[in-house]
Amino acid sequence: MVANKEQFLERIDTGIPGFDEMLGGGFYKGTINVVTGETGTGKTIFGSQYLGSGLQKGEKGMCIVTSEMSDFVKKEMYTSFGWDFWKLEESGDLVFVDVTDPELRLQKAVELAPMELIKSFRKLIDRKIGEEKPRRVFIDSIEALFLAIESKYRLRTIVDDMFDVLRGHGVTVVVSSGTMFGISEAVEYGADSVTRLGRMIAGNNLQRTIYVAKLRGSNTSNEIRVLNISNKGLSVLKQSPYLGSTG
Ligand SMILES: Nc1ncnc2c1ncn2[C@@H]1O[C@H](COP(=O)(O)OP(=O)(O)O)[C@@H](O)[C@H]1O
Ligand SMILES: [Mg+2]
Repeated sequence: MVANKEQFLERIDTGIPGFDEMLGGGFYKGTINVVTGETGTGKTIFGSQYLGSGLQKGEKGMCIVTSEMSDFVKKEMYTSFGWDFWKLEESGDLVFVDVTDPELRLQKAVELAPMELIKSFRKLIDRKIGEEKPRRVFIDSIEALFLAIESKYRLRTIVDDMFDVLRGHGVTVVVSSGTMFGISEAVEYGADSVTRLGRMIAGNNLQRTIYVAKLRGSNTSNEIRVLNISNKGLSVLKQSPYLGSTG
């Protein structure tokens, strides 16, 4: 698959100003990069911005939405930032795959065993990525698929298997995972990099935070930085969040 060592070193920009330098130069090409955080911390924006950055350079993107119709993601990005994913989809530069896909809907409708849904999902993304050949893939969010898997061991095996399918295509993937159901641990374990988004109390305000929890094979920043969301999307500020005293 990978022919020479230069290819191992190739980095892909995240599209988030200030964040590539925290990673020592971006994500490694062909790897699985997990972004975790509570609801509302910016995971969907992160992945969308990552795809958007590639699109600007003519790199085809694929957005796989597991827990809702992809129209909701398109609408969120349009009303928040004016990013027109409908238009990009029309031109064929961006491909959406979502839960309304007939292959998955069938499984959902009859509420078959969770493993059946996971197997169908695995097959679907394997086929779609093979057909469309995107350079960047964003999966938002992975935990929705794994909610019914009770054994941690089973979960790890399933996650590893899913990630191996993705790695087999050589695409660079961002996977978001919510922290609510205790699943993100297993997802983080199998990933090549982990970025954590959060919120901290700073004085009388909430401050958004970002840090790199792991990046296999690279030097990374150990700092926690402030994550800013504006009408242009996410950016990482140079400063660390101010920790207000509780006393
Ligand atoms: N234009 C904007 N300016 C500032 N903040 C915004 C803007 N658009 C969205 N947000 C913030 O981003 C949050 C949503 O981020 P999102 O990526 O959907 O979170 P997650 O996917 O982690 O649940 C919103 O709750 C809102 O606080
Ligand atoms: Mg989201």
